[in-house]
Amino acid sequence: MRYPSAAIAALLTLPSVQALVQKHNVGKLPALGWNSWNAFYCNVNETKILTAANQMVSLGLKDSGYQYVNIDDCWSVKSGRDNKTGQIIPDPEKFPSGIIGVADAIHALGLKVGIYGSAGTETCGGYPGQIGQESLDAATFAAWGIDYLKYDNCYVPSNWTDQYNACVPDQWQVYGPYVNGTCSKSATDAPAGYDWSTSNTAHRYRIMRDALLAQNRTILYSLCEWGQADVVVWGNNTGNSWRISGDINPWWARIAEILNENSFLLNHVNFWGHNDMDMLEIGNGNLTLAESRSHFAFWAAMKSPLIIGTALDTLPATHVDILRNKYLLAFHQDASHGAPATPYKWGTNPDWTFNATNPAEYWSGKSTQGTLVLALNTLATNATREIIWNEVPGLEDGRDAFEVTEIWSGKSLGCVEHGIKTVVGSHDTAGYVVGKNCIQYRS
Ligand code: GAL
Repeated sequence: MRYPSAAIAALLTLPSVQALVQKHNVGKLPALGWNSWNAFYCNVNETKILTAANQMVSLGLKDSGYQYVNIDDCWSVKSGRDNKTGQIIPDPEKFPSGIIGVADAIHALGLKVGIYGSAGTETCGGYPGQIGQESLDAATFAAWGIDYLKYDNCYVPSNWTDQYNACVPDQWQVYGPYVNGTCSKSATDAPAGYDWSTSNTAHRYRIMRDALLAQNRTILYSLCEWGQADVVVWGNNTGNSWRISGDINPWWARIAEILNENSFLLNHVNFWGHNDMDMLEIGNGNLTLAESRSHFAFWAAMKSPLIIGTALDTLPATHVDILRNKYLLAFHQDASHGAPATPYKWGTNPDWTFNATNPAEYWSGKSTQGTLVLALNTLATNATREIIWNEVPGLEDGRDAFEVTEIWSGKSLGCVEHGIKTVVGSHDTAGYVVGKNCIQYRS
């Protein structure tokens, strides 16, 4: 579907919400880290977590800014809580040092540690959840030295479900078909103007926010409710980041699908609040190097948290290089520019087309280092992509030559006039940092 320009204008004038601002700038910029799920699923233990932490240091990822080492689902005793204290218990076989021992070891490396819970009676893997126990568990997490909580959405009790359904494009199984950018109407749709911040989902996530804020420890709060209940409208005052989709998978069609979905939600991203496109799959499944480059480039350009999800001790150097790309990380972590890159032209499709296979291809964003310009090839074969300075927001002011650096090689292309035309491999991305104007105004 084409989005009418009136709809775009309305989006651009959305009132700004009060963001969740935490101490020490935690959550101001999108998080950088590693998480166990995409690599190991439930098969997690202390050795794997500490291996990842050590690899983050030895591969130079820590020096590149990666900070959080996050333990995902299946870390606790499944059968229940401590009889006396009611506390959740770390699985003694998987974590013989306890979460506290692992947290100490991670902190000793100069890194931070994250854990996982669920705003329901059980986590998605069937381990004890937090609903009704938010204060106790937040206090336990804080006492263990936790710095980051990923909060999932499984096993919601029936008295906590939402009154209405909200449409999430990739969850048509739950909400009915989402065709050409529009959800099918259903009897349980919310009435026009319904305020989703009053929903039970928003309420469940606020209870944990308040429990975390009551601790004497700063804990980054990462909402994982898969984009439901229109989270983009209340996520910013509830958490530091919020998932906008269902789970990612390590194949290109899913990467392109999430890229497409998020490209319509970018007005909700800035300092102190980030759409989470889900954890990285670089190193997993059948993603080619070209696809891995594009995956990383667009997650960084849209300022999603960048949480690595692969076994670092077996990751090839080619992939480590992608994760350490200094131009993309500088854009992602820019201290002066909080807004993400946005599409300036769709390319294969007409502008504003919602399409999971051929999302927007031409993107730009401002940063301290210059304008980041990306050109994606969504097609299955090589294709020419032409970046014309005159079409790029901020570069169309009449001066037509700029100093350019290519982001994958770091090579300076010198003073480039008019733009760049280049052949881009299937699913690959050409990327440039466009710096200073290098020719005076022409007469
Ligand atoms: C899903 C979540 C995944 C992972 C998994 C664990 O709901 O989106 O990222 O955390 O649960 O069971």
